[in-house]
Amino acid sequence: YTITVDSGTTGAAISDSLYGVFFEDINWAADGGLYAELVRNRSFEFSPADNASYNGLTGWTVTGTATTRDDASRINERNRTYLDINGSVVSSPFATVAGDFYDFSVWARADAATTLTVTLGSTRHIVNVRSGEWRKYSATLRATATTDAATLKVETAGPAKLDMVSLFPRKTFKNHGLRADLASKIAALRPGFLRFPGGCLVNTGSMYGYDAASGYPRARSYQWKDTVGPVETRATNANFWGYNQSYGLGYYEYFQFAEDIGAAPLPVVPALVTGCGQNRATDDPALLQRHIQDTLDLIEFANGPVTSTWGKLRAQMGHPKPFGLTMIAVGNEENLPDAYFANYLKFREAIKAAYPTITVIGNSGPDDQGATFDRLWELNRSAGSDMVDEHYYNSPSWFLQNNARYDSYDRNGPKVFLGEYASQDAKFANSLAEAAYMTGLERNADVVRMASYAPLLANIDHVQWRPDLIWFDADESWGTTSYQTQKLFMNNVGDRVVPSSVAGAVVQPKPITGRVGLSTWATAARYDDVKVTGTDGTVLYSDDFADGNADGWTSLSNRGTWSVQDGAYVQSDTAATNTMVAAATDITATDYDITLKATKT
Ligand code: AHR
Repeated sequence: YTITVDSGTTGAAISDSLYGVFFEDINWAADGGLYAELVRNRSFEFSPADNASYNGLTGWTVTGTATTRDDASRINERNRTYLDINGSVVSSPFATVAGDFYDFSVWARADAATTLTVTLGSTRHIVNVRSGEWRKYSATLRATATTDAATLKVETAGPAKLDMVSLFPRKTFKNHGLRADLASKIAALRPGFLRFPGGCLVNTGSMYGYDAASGYPRARSYQWKDTVGPVETRATNANFWGYNQSYGLGYYEYFQFAEDIGAAPLPVVPALVTGCGQNRATDDPALLQRHIQDTLDLIEFANGPVTSTWGKLRAQMGHPKPFGLTMIAVGNEENLPDAYFANYLKFREAIKAAYPTITVIGNSGPDDQGATFDRLWELNRSAGSDMVDEHYYNSPSWFLQNNARYDSYDRNGPKVFLGEYASQDAKFANSLAEAAYMTGLERNADVVRMASYAPLLANIDHVQWRPDLIWFDADESWGTTSYQTQKLFMNNVGDRVVPSSVAGAVVQPKPITGRVGLSTWATAARYDDVKVTGTDGTVLYSDDFADGNADGWTSLSNRGTWSVQDGAYVQSDTAATNTMVAAATDITATDYDITLKATKT
């Protein structure tokens, strides 16, 4: 076949920020990941109210008497639990490098003066606690071993109260507290933007912030004001992905990281309509108004002068210069399109009135490509949205089939932000399918303004979703082949599209249009008697799971575990309320009916 390249014609300009990254705290991406803190549950806030397997001493081994207390002696209202101890606590294991320095700190008080002996490997440090009031004590410790099984031990000589027991490697990315190898791998992509903090993380859980007036909700949506200021005043949250987040990695740190890697910050704020299977819209206008004001305050935090309320906080935290925020996304994958859009318009109106140059990004709902998606695009189009966030996770064949997706998008309509995408299931073929698809994104650079693969990070021991771009454990990290694809494209962004055409015997991929898939946002779902029938009556696929096997089924964007039990396909991970997706093989038909039995216990 013949490829004709028309180098004499000028095609669309390709923006330097076409490719970026999307960071969400999923797969332990923040605590135990990018946030370099080595101590788990440093503030003793873990609770069975968040996760049945948690308690105040999760992550610690205790000798002597040690009790976590939530009473008036606490360090502050947001950091409610502390450790009342006469004995020792040993942290969960983490990695150290022999000869490297580590910054230890602890908040402590003792009614009668006492000492703390702090031990890292064979390094010891004595802290004298002489105050009956909470005070922060710091020390530098030097590791004597290169190991991924180091622990931190704090032993008291008498009764004491402890909180915020922390250990940070001295070497962090640009000295800003992020794990150097992970941050460097992200930086090596040369991202044009950083979307954060989610994802489902943003708009699930309580819409109230962590304050007394709202009853200190534990599992709440990601609200930026909960995540700034001194770390000891940031309340731990129980996140959508089934574990706790300390918020040590908060909005200031995200903005700083974006600046450090030369990426434009792109925050996502909750739109007061829950997504990701939690279908609720607020009916509280005051709460909605509070979130809209919070969003305006966020822009002031990022860009305002040091004399402004929130600009002053930014300066106090160490960054008097504005962060240069130019865009903001409202919401993520809401399932109630009209309710979401009504709120989105109110956010947009307020943002544009105060900050006319900020780009406000709407979204197109969950990644089902169905009626919600169509309705949201219709609404975004008629409202003249600046940009619309699309998400999809599909098979490699889908990506090959849909290379031309954006060729037919309206050139005069809203621009596209492909905020989340990944080819799933066929391992290496994923990265090739993504590479092929990205040529379609670049060809349509006049419509597709930004794109980011998702998810970005996965701790190999704590996976809620796969595939992911960069994997890590306590001391190592590695990129997938999709990481190499992203790196190749992201480091070689062109200036302009050069129009081209292909003629001749081009081999078209098979007309695969679908795949048998099961997904649920709940726990304890059971599926049975799955059958796909072509419109001509041909059975294209069936499985009743009676033989004890799930033939051809594979965990796809799996945030849990499926298995065959009692002749049905069962989501056996009941620990968290998450999406579970499992998929069988592709089906080759354009029209078909699918039937199945589904129950939830
Ligand atoms: O990237 C993982 C999840 O996929 C995101 O949280 C959500 O937006 C989407 O469903």
